[in-house]
Amino acid sequence: MAIKTIDDLLAEGVEGRHVLVRSDFNVPLNEAGEITDPGRINASLPTLKALLEGGAKVIVTAHLGRPKGEVNPKYSLAPVAEALSEALGQYVALASDVVGEDAHERANGLNEGDVLLVENVRFDPRETSKDEAERAAFAAELAALAADNGAFVSDGFGVVHRAQASVYDVAKALPAYAGYLVGKEVDVLEKVAANPEHPYVVVLGGSKVSDKLGVIEALANKADRLIIGGGMCYTFLAAQGYNVQQSLLQEEMVDTCADLLGRFGDKIVLPVDLVAAKEFAADAENKIVALDAIPEGWQSLDIGPESVKKFAEVLADSKTVFWNGPMGVFEFEAFSKGTAGVAQAIIDATAKNGSFSVVGGGDSAASVRALGLDEEGFSHISTGGGASLEFLEGKELPGVAVLNA
Ligand code: 3PG
Repeated sequence: MAIKTIDDLLAEGVEGRHVLVRSDFNVPLNEAGEITDPGRINASLPTLKALLEGGAKVIVTAHLGRPKGEVNPKYSLAPVAEALSEALGQYVALASDVVGEDAHERANGLNEGDVLLVENVRFDPRETSKDEAERAAFAAELAALAADNGAFVSDGFGVVHRAQASVYDVAKALPAYAGYLVGKEVDVLEKVAANPEHPYVVVLGGSKVSDKLGVIEALANKADRLIIGGGMCYTFLAAQGYNVQQSLLQEEMVDTCADLLGRFGDKIVLPVDLVAAKEFAADAENKIVALDAIPEGWQSLDIGPESVKKFAEVLADSKTVFWNGPMGVFEFEAFSKGTAGVAQAIIDATAKNGSFSVVGGGDSAASVRALGLDEEGFSHISTGGGASLEFLEGKELPGVAVLNA
């Protein structure tokens, strides 16, 4: 059975109906609790606006961070409610609980075209429980917010790889539809996964090799080149015998990286120089060094200019590019040039070759905006990090699969 979409729901009619929407509002916050990148909020708007224009009474569920089943004001969706009100141009009320009295009262009091956000679903331990019955009970309580004749719209693409109550189980408790964001993301990633035009270049960065092993394995057979930078490249460099000093290293993964280099060495492209820093700080003393010349006790926080040049040469011929993970600590200006250079090389390839370029992941998408790069220069910026990687790995995404059921 094909997935039912929000267009099917709108065609059925939503006027006066409660519609429960799962969005991904897991946005980065600074120390003052302010949202530093509203990308995910903006990406949720087409679905919410369409439902509101159709006269639905919209109830939005979302998570923020990992509060581990406990109410913790640090993870309150209050800043999101404020930002969403501004982005939608209408007041978004925030319930002080998830499925409690306040959420119910407010949901019952909604008028057509009103929107309510309930508190962080992860404040309830049943949201992420491994026990199916616990999750189902919580999902039933979420569904009850949508009263009679309600519907569920799944639009939090960034979280569809989680079999959690508000993503997965609730889709069994109400008639379920894919929102515009989920529909668009799945279409784009399907194109990359099933039929990439070659040369297909994958650029991986970010800190944890262990998180990306599956994707490296899966993509090594499909992609023509795999560029590896960012925090994860140091484990590969260690596997090649370099002393990476204090740079990020997953010691237990060195043998695995050596094995990957042995099998896919002709495809894997690693940095040729680095920006080493005396310490992890924005204003740390730093210098460009060869791979074997990180000073004792220093750490590399970015790839060097020769690496950017080398990566840009590989990208220059590409017809398809998937990029996940920054090349360095882009939040510190002194260590942002690697990420900015690689991002620009992808933008150039997109303009010159008509390459199909996809940026996947919260951090990479945030880096594009933080570095002032042209978002329009990429074919698609995905809101999903883990979700887009798991999709390309060929794994089933529970939150999408359940819509097919
Ligand atoms: C994300 O930020 O990638 C999604 O919101 C999922 O968050 P999680 O990794 O905490 O499940």
